[in-house]
Amino acid sequence: MIIKEGQPKNSEGLNEAHAIMNQYLRAMEAILQQIEAYSQEINAFAAADADSIEQFRIRFLGVKGIVKAIMGEMKNVPNEQKKSFGQTLNAFKMLAESKYEVEKVKVEGGEKNTGFKLDISLPGTPAPSGSRHPVTLMRNRIIEIFERLSFTVAEGPEIEDDWHNFTALNLDENHPARDMQDTFYLSTDPAILLRTHTSNTQIREMESRELPIRIICPGRVYRNETISARSHCFFHQVEGLYVDENVSFADLKQTLYYFVKEMFGEDVKVRFRPSYFPFTEPSAEMDISCQLCKGEGCAVCKRTGWLEILGCGMVHPNVLKNCGIDPEKYTGFAFGMGVERPALLKYGITDIRLFSENDVRFLEQFSGV
Ligand code: PHE
Repeated sequence: MIIKEGQPKNSEGLNEAHAIMNQYLRAMEAILQQIEAYSQEINAFAAADADSIEQFRIRFLGVKGIVKAIMGEMKNVPNEQKKSFGQTLNAFKMLAESKYEVEKVKVEGGEKNTGFKLDISLPGTPAPSGSRHPVTLMRNRIIEIFERLSFTVAEGPEIEDDWHNFTALNLDENHPARDMQDTFYLSTDPAILLRTHTSNTQIREMESRELPIRIICPGRVYRNETISARSHCFFHQVEGLYVDENVSFADLKQTLYYFVKEMFGEDVKVRFRPSYFPFTEPSAEMDISCQLCKGEGCAVCKRTGWLEILGCGMVHPNVLKNCGIDPEKYTGFAFGMGVERPALLKYGITDIRLFSENDVRFLEQFSGV
């Protein structure tokens, strides 16, 4: 019903309706003004603590709160006004609710405070993964091949006594071969030193383990050497040992031949040269045909076509005795190789010092290997 100003008030009923209507409209006007005032209050609200946010909730959103109370007015609103009043009311309710949510998050604090919303469907930031060191890569390759032949890995201490590094290996105190393996001493009486080879682990294993023994001993070793592009005062080795009844030099050759073929490929050639180590008898050094020039002769193999890769031999009876093993009953072979040398060859690295300089530009180059 539309009531125009100045319309003749010719009936009592109409007058009354008009009066009621005006009353409603004034009441509505008052409510709208109140909503406006409450909205300002809500906008200005900033929760100081959990308590004040709870007070806010009770005042505006509680069962006896302002929003509920104003909602209750809805039934008194004339039909024509219901839609727009409803919208105003809804907006007011949402204002109170969202203020409450925002302030609650702020008060609860922590990371939520930033207003940051987590989108779990976004792809993550990949954590940069490092790469294996080329020495580790080479050591693992060597280990893998010998594991296929049932060798197991044994590890020993880098700080060693004289017995396990020298004397038990048939290198008496005044043995001239000690000169070739000068090292760093932590004390001289008793002699405690940085091991010069991983053969110390072989002694420890023979002293403590049941026979047969079939082990490989990877690890870091130390020597008092001038540091250059070709040698360092520390490097890595993998040594091997097999002790059982009837182990022969033929077993040694076959084992090593299998190893180099797996490591360098079917077409690799090997040769054994007689050599000397105090702890093996007979002793040999094994060369492989140069992998760079295929035996033609180049700068790396010093024009010989051959590269020396390891020392080997049959375990000396004195060494077996020193470890409490009967050399009449048991025999064994042993071999030892450096890890850096084949790594230099495989990855075409020209300076051994690069391995320990920790230069990320160098190390990163092995990330795909
Ligand atoms: N221990 C020797 C070295 O470090 C290598 C080797 C081991 C040689 C076993 C023969 C037998 O030089």
